[in-house]
Amino acid sequence: MPNLTTEARLDSYKRLLVISQVLTSTLELFTLLDLIVNAARDLTHTEATSILLIDNKTGDLYFEAVTGSKSEEIKRMVVPPDSVAGWVAREGRTQIINDVSRDRRFFAKVGETIGVQTRSLIAVPMKVKDKTIGVLEAINRSDDTPFTAEDIDLLNTLSAQAAIAITNARLFQQSDLISEMVHELRTPLTSIVAYSELMLRREIPPVQARSFTETIYQEAMQLSNMTNGFLELSRLQSGRIRMDMVNFSLTDLIHEVMMLLQPQADERGLTFEAALPDQVVAVTADRERIRQVLVNLTSNAVKYNRPNGAITLQTELTDPQHVRISIKDTGRGIPEKDLPRIFEKFFRVADSEGYATGTGLGLSIVKQIIEAHGCQIDVKSQVDVGTTFSFVLKAAPPE
Ligand SMILES: Nc1ncnc2c1ncn2[C@@H]1O[C@H](COP(=O)(O)OP(=O)(O)OP(=O)(O)O)[C@@H](O)[C@H]1O
Ligand SMILES: [Mg+2]
Repeated sequence: MPNLTTEARLDSYKRLLVISQVLTSTLELFTLLDLIVNAARDLTHTEATSILLIDNKTGDLYFEAVTGSKSEEIKRMVVPPDSVAGWVAREGRTQIINDVSRDRRFFAKVGETIGVQTRSLIAVPMKVKDKTIGVLEAINRSDDTPFTAEDIDLLNTLSAQAAIAITNARLFQQSDLISEMVHELRTPLTSIVAYSELMLRREIPPVQARSFTETIYQEAMQLSNMTNGFLELSRLQSGRIRMDMVNFSLTDLIHEVMMLLQPQADERGLTFEAALPDQVVAVTADRERIRQVLVNLTSNAVKYNRPNGAITLQTELTDPQHVRISIKDTGRGIPEKDLPRIFEKFFRVADSEGYATGTGLGLSIVKQIIEAHGCQIDVKSQVDVGTTFSFVLKAAPPE
């Protein structure tokens, strides 16, 4: 491999040092990734560079950032496991291919998408401690000379720094989540403090004292629900949770959930209907978590229904392998403009507050669980008519 002059090498390492300093002080992920790909391209004198990250949940390797203007088209594109980047991610080792036409493993679609014909490439793993979190890839060395030992060295050093910077930025995003949570907790906390102070300071007539205590109790419950919901949500979002897939009777589970929520339904004069096939419907899923999904959706159908309304829980075999489950209510509906936001954490439709208490976390948890099963949650709603949530699960194989 040709060697650079000592001066040129020194210059490259100086630049790397400056880049490293910028990387450690940047916590905004988007800016960070952009910095890394551009630095990698400059340091290795290549035509284009990209960062691929491993999805914690699915294990897929996908494009997260690329130099040049086509980056939006390529973002989130998953590369096959038998591509060069796939190999590097799996083996945790560098790969250099000076003539890609001799190697079948390279992913031509990328070059096509960004309008670059790949001739040569180098791909290095991005590691934090011993864990590979992604791949840094550079293609086409300028003047088509082979990659040098310096290129490999520079790219490896940059990629180690980048991996740490990306991990830090992700942790910082998590702490963003925490500050959002703290912000939400302040409202119930403030009223608990205010009402208990009132009770301590003054002689209060018993009737009023009771009403204050009720408020304190409700706000404390709200705090407790928020904390539990938030913990569950951050556990699910971390991607560390695996779904515990078992075969179970959905028919039984639906009856269980209806029994659980019957008292709340009775209070509002609501009737439950189960539209289930005659034979037992069995699915393969995480039973506890699907129970949570059904409880969250059905309790919404109770809370946001009209007095004396109805709730229908339905299952249907869409094909021999799939079961669609829907929860339908005759409630107030969700305004169209709010539909895209209802799965966001803490989001509640503006006038929900006066209607029923809630944390705004229930549907975010539902979405995370359904997505962790590799499925999607659907919603259809019409104001003053009602709402239907539905999702598909895998049918259990016949015994
Ligand atoms: N079936 C429904 N009918 C009408 N509006 C609904 C329905 N389900 C959810 N919503 C609206 O979406 C918002 C978010 O629902 P989500 O379940 O996430 O939170 P929540 O019910 O307010 O709180 P929690 O689930 O913690 O009790 C609700 O506040 C409500 O405005
Ligand atoms: Mg809810």
